[in-house]
Amino acid sequence: METVIIDREGSVVAKVLQERYYERPPQIERGWQHHLIDTTARTYVDMVNNVAGLGHAHPKVADAADRQLRTLATNSRFLFRDLAEYSERLLALMPEGSDLDTVLLVNSGSEAVDLAIRLAQAATGRRTVVALREAYHGWTMASDAVTTSAYDNPFALATRPDWVHIADVPNRFRGTYRGADVADAYLADLATDLDRLREDGREVAAFLCESILGNAGGVVLPDGYLAGAYAQIRAAGGVCIADEVQVGFGRMGSAFWGFELAEVVPDIITIAKPMGNGFPIGGVITSKRIADALSTQGQFFSSAGGSTLSCRVGIAVLDAMAEDGLQHNAAVIGARLAEGLRGLADRHPLIGVVHGEGLYLGVELVRDRDTMEPAAAEAAAICERMRELGVIVLTTSERSNVLKIKPPLCLTAQSADHVVAMLDRVLTEGW
Ligand SMILES: Cc1ncc(COP(=O)(O)O)c(C=O)c1O
Repeated sequence: METVIIDREGSVVAKVLQERYYERPPQIERGWQHHLIDTTARTYVDMVNNVAGLGHAHPKVADAADRQLRTLATNSRFLFRDLAEYSERLLALMPEGSDLDTVLLVNSGSEAVDLAIRLAQAATGRRTVVALREAYHGWTMASDAVTTSAYDNPFALATRPDWVHIADVPNRFRGTYRGADVADAYLADLATDLDRLREDGREVAAFLCESILGNAGGVVLPDGYLAGAYAQIRAAGGVCIADEVQVGFGRMGSAFWGFELAEVVPDIITIAKPMGNGFPIGGVITSKRIADALSTQGQFFSSAGGSTLSCRVGIAVLDAMAEDGLQHNAAVIGARLAEGLRGLADRHPLIGVVHGEGLYLGVELVRDRDTMEPAAAEAAAICERMRELGVIVLTTSERSNVLKIKPPLCLTAQSADHVVAMLDRVLTEGW
């Protein structure tokens, strides 16, 4: 059955789209809460689907979409209540006292990052965007330009357009500077980069990064790095963009947004994945001053972004998040899971470090804890064996040696414990 589907896909789907998880991928047919179910009725605990933030097939979201599709689905150039209501709901999630008072809705994270870059360039009248190494930000021309991960594009570092400057990634576990107190060292290098850009006449428009390094596997930034970087960029006349597509929206548990962990307030925030719980919604939140700068460059319009339908779905997702207590669950179950995984690290030397916060965790596998030699082949084999044992977990990072853990936020204690037990079993028995 799977072979038939793979052959059919092979004949009609573009080659660039044919990367699939697993040597022998299960054919997934259904999702329910934090479970995936295949065509043989085999059920898996889903540890990777952060788009289905509420859990798969949430009835309230399905009802909202159904009702709105039967009532009205039209674009934001008509006057309707839903766009204002959804925008106000999103703005109510902004830090108190911030000037983040304006929402622009699109359909994906890539579009959100693309638009954020345009806004920053329009507001500053400059072009240069500083992005961190090892990042993924999307597939459109602009969001791909700031995507620097060698996993997504082996030629990334050598082929960025002239308006992108790549800064060193402040990974305190395996980066240029390692240890607890390395923010100043990374910030000194960033300052040097900014000086050079100025000397070359490439004044900075924006600094863009994830508030914790999602693509690297949930690596928490060194204490003080983000605050220092934002201060330097603003002093240089640029604006700060937080890409919260992966790490925001309640997943951190202790905070709704990733940037709150670093006690900073960005100038522009990009959001997407869990906003629609599978329905395509993305957005940018910024200040009126920055948003208005774009109007000097013509109009902005997205046919489905901010439509009656996507607004109703977005509101239903926010309601369900609150009703189901999902941010709280992310804090409680995330802490339990992290503790369980760190317990495994005490017994299994293959686990170099457990990264992350809330329900965005990464289990970094290394052959040697001193050299941090990536255990990529082991990580892939462990994922295959975990699938056989009923757990969907996959690899991430440029080195493909981190098990990424970003399940629906409704993950239960029982399932979290089961995942830890299964990983323990695989690490003990072999793979
Ligand atoms: C941090 C980050 N930004 C942006 C994107 C792009 O989002 P989308 O796939 O919705 O276009 C992604 C997607 O994985 C992402 O991880």
